[in-house]
Amino acid sequence: MALLRPDLAKLHSYIAPVVGDEDKLDANEVGYPLPAWFQDKLGFAAGQVQGHRYPSGDFQVLRGLLADYSGVTADGITVGNGSDELIRSLIMVSCLGQGRGVLSAEPTFSMYRIVAETLGVPYFMTPRNPESFSLDLAALTRVLAQENVGILFLAAPNSPTGTPLTAAELDFLRGLPEDLLVVLDEAYYEFSGSTVVAELAQRPNWVVLRTLSKAFRLAAYRVGYVIAQPYLVTALEKVRLPYNLTALSLAAAELALTHHQELLTVVPLVLAEREQLISGLEQLDIHHWPTVTNFIFCQVPEAPRIHRELAQRGSLVRLTHGGLRVTVGTPPENQRLLGNLQSILGTSTIQSSP
Ligand SMILES: Cc1ncc(COP(=O)(O)O)c(C=O)c1O
Repeated sequence: MALLRPDLAKLHSYIAPVVGDEDKLDANEVGYPLPAWFQDKLGFAAGQVQGHRYPSGDFQVLRGLLADYSGVTADGITVGNGSDELIRSLIMVSCLGQGRGVLSAEPTFSMYRIVAETLGVPYFMTPRNPESFSLDLAALTRVLAQENVGILFLAAPNSPTGTPLTAAELDFLRGLPEDLLVVLDEAYYEFSGSTVVAELAQRPNWVVLRTLSKAFRLAAYRVGYVIAQPYLVTALEKVRLPYNLTALSLAAAELALTHHQELLTVVPLVLAEREQLISGLEQLDIHHWPTVTNFIFCQVPEAPRIHRELAQRGSLVRLTHGGLRVTVGTPPENQRLLGNLQSILGTSTIQSSP
């Protein structure tokens, strides 16, 4: 008998790229660093941490702040070490040991598949419409009828494509049976401005997943949260490891939520920059999809070569599903990206906007 699960032999560990001083436009972070006042306050808070003690175990303060921010009560919130950890907890409470699988619609966020595979849980996917990246509702219905699916993950809006859910897609989700957990991953909520949180009270099988890694600019601190009906939160709390957030992450998250209005003033800046970047891409005749996020999915001929040459010139973007996913960066980063694309593609000069 083998010591290790045989299916692990087919899996690879997730290697995050090591970055030097390149422009990092490949991970959908916000390019503007946290403000100095925030860093100062966090430095002070870090100094108050009692390093020899375990951190607060129930996260009541943070859950309360997240509940106020999201317009729910604290019993409808649980927190994770990044939303990645919560993806795992959600699969654990719905599928593990039950012979049930995970369903998603690709291209999408890779962690739904990766986490399912690492837990030895079956993963099913339906392809999105290649023109609009809308969901193939007939294909989803077919998989749900034929396979034993416990959980459906949809990034809303989707990554890498930037597309929001349509009204028809939301209606489809409303018609799904209540023994299927439906996760709407709103990692980019602050950019898209739309959420299904108001509907959660009527939908016992819906879960909203969010993160502080994007608009809140706390990617380094790894804090994600779930908003759901209290019975689901209770189940997720049962599989949560004790002290899954460090005291420093907790301090950063509490500070960010306390000052959310000031911190989120970065969102309109990013959205304005996105429009500038889109107009630059259009001047280079680069095909791109409409986006409601802080990133843009583009199609270029010979995407792997362009990806490689961009990296050599110092602009890191994500090569995925045959295209390039470009995170909106700061104005100089975006200008450098457009300049690099221009020289790689050999196109005429870009007009800079007034
Ligand atoms: C759709 C989506 N969900 C979740 C995450 C991960 O967030 P976290 O940093 O909280 O693990 C990402 C990160 O890129 C994402 O694109």
